[in-house]
Amino acid sequence: MNLRCLFRVALVICCCHGAPSCPNYCKCYFGQDSTEVICHNISMNVFPAHSLPNNTTLLTIQYTDITTITGEDLRSTPLLKELHLSNNKLKNLSADMLMGLPHLHTIDLTGNQLRELPSRVFHHAPLNSQALKNNFLLRAEADWLPSNSNLTWIDLSGNHFQKVPAGLLQNLGRLVTLDLSMNKLEELPAEVLDPLPLMERLSLQNNKLHFIDPLAFNATFSLSYLFLQNNRLEKLAPALFRRVKELRYLDLSGNQLTSLPTGALDPSVMFVDLALNPWHCDAKVDYLWRLERRYVALHQEETKAVCSLPAALKGRTLASLSAEELGLKMEQGSSR
Ligand SMILES: *[C@@H]1O[C@H](CO)[C@@H](O)[C@H](O)[C@H]1NC(C)=O
Ligand SMILES: *[C@@H]1O[C@H](CO)[C@@H](O)[C@H](O)[C@H]1NC(C)=O
Ligand SMILES: *[C@@H]1O[C@H](CO)[C@@H](O)[C@H](O)[C@H]1NC(C)=O
Ligand SMILES: *[C@@H]1O[C@H](CO)[C@@H](O)[C@H](O)[C@H]1NC(C)=O
Ligand SMILES: *[C@@H]1O[C@H](CO)[C@@H](O)[C@H](O)[C@H]1NC(C)=O
Ligand SMILES: *[C@@H]1O[C@H](CO)[C@@H](O)[C@H](O)[C@H]1NC(C)=O
Repeated sequence: MNLRCLFRVALVICCCHGAPSCPNYCKCYFGQDSTEVICHNISMNVFPAHSLPNNTTLLTIQYTDITTITGEDLRSTPLLKELHLSNNKLKNLSADMLMGLPHLHTIDLTGNQLRELPSRVFHHAPLNSQALKNNFLLRAEADWLPSNSNLTWIDLSGNHFQKVPAGLLQNLGRLVTLDLSMNKLEELPAEVLDPLPLMERLSLQNNKLHFIDPLAFNATFSLSYLFLQNNRLEKLAPALFRRVKELRYLDLSGNQLTSLPTGALDPSVMFVDLALNPWHCDAKVDYLWRLERRYVALHQEETKAVCSLPAALKGRTLASLSAEELGLKMEQGSSR
């Protein structure tokens, strides 16, 4: 009997007798229209390609010693919709990895050791969600994703980006959520976000941002949640959010802001966190103080802005200060 026959016999035995196969170290759940496989074992160091149920739709392999996965490995599960590969030891991906997966919409590669990726690596599947969080990526190339990408969610946080990956974003016209937090970004230049008119949630916290171009948000009309906490911002441009329809939440805590120019948070920021900045509470704090008053009246809570200067007001919350203490001249009827 040649090898092929032997294989056939083995397959028949395995498939015709007893329960469907499930790889060692894994658990398989056979549902009405889904087959879920979850593998979770440090002793695993090769991808269990040949023992996966061929109708697997959701595959999770986590906390193993697996270092690489190829297109060949995934070809045995053509119905895959979600592939969760977080916290393995993946060092590289092959360019054909997603070649046989026409239904794959979610891929999670969080917590691996990826430094760079081959071109066209995500071209072959109709992805809408993708996580590359907590890897060692220095840059993202435009050609990782196709130009008609339908990605709505991408998580690039916890990598080593020094620049916003402008080329990649160019292809992401449907993006709703972008996470670039915990990188090493220093600047947010004009135009890089312009290809993202549908973006609602942008996470840039825990970077080294010291500059945001006055036109950075010129075309992100849908932006609703913006996280800028724990950066090095010393100022914001007066009309930064002029073209944003409605910013529902803005976190500016943990920066180096001393004041905000008149109109900086217009036309409408609903909730804002201004804690842990060295605010200067002198007459120039006018705009911010009026904003604080409105804010307290509207939400019955404070923006958490605390004065660091002048010495006499150090440690006082902006909300607790009167116009007289700030040396503000009140116009008639506006002293509420
Ligand atoms: C997948 O295959 C197993 C047998 O191998 C079967 O029990 C299950 O119903 C199948 N699931 C789907 C969604 O086709
Ligand atoms: C991993 O597999 C080994 C060998 O089968 C087993 O002894 C161990 O309990 C498994 N660990 C987990 C976390 O499943
Ligand atoms: C899975 O294998 C069975 C038995 O060999 C076959 O009938 C079925 O068509 C295969 N399903 C897929 C999705 O390849
Ligand atoms: C991944 O990198 C290793 C070591 O550099 C190499 O041997 C292997 O062929 C690479 N695999 C792929 C799929 O590129
Ligand atoms: C994105 O969706 C459109 C419409 O559903 C489809 O024609 C296009 O092929 C999709 N793009 C990709 C890369 O799958
Ligand atoms: C801002 O965006 C508008 C389109 O919404 C465009 O007409 C204008 O040229 C942009 N401004 C700059 C300076 O890029």
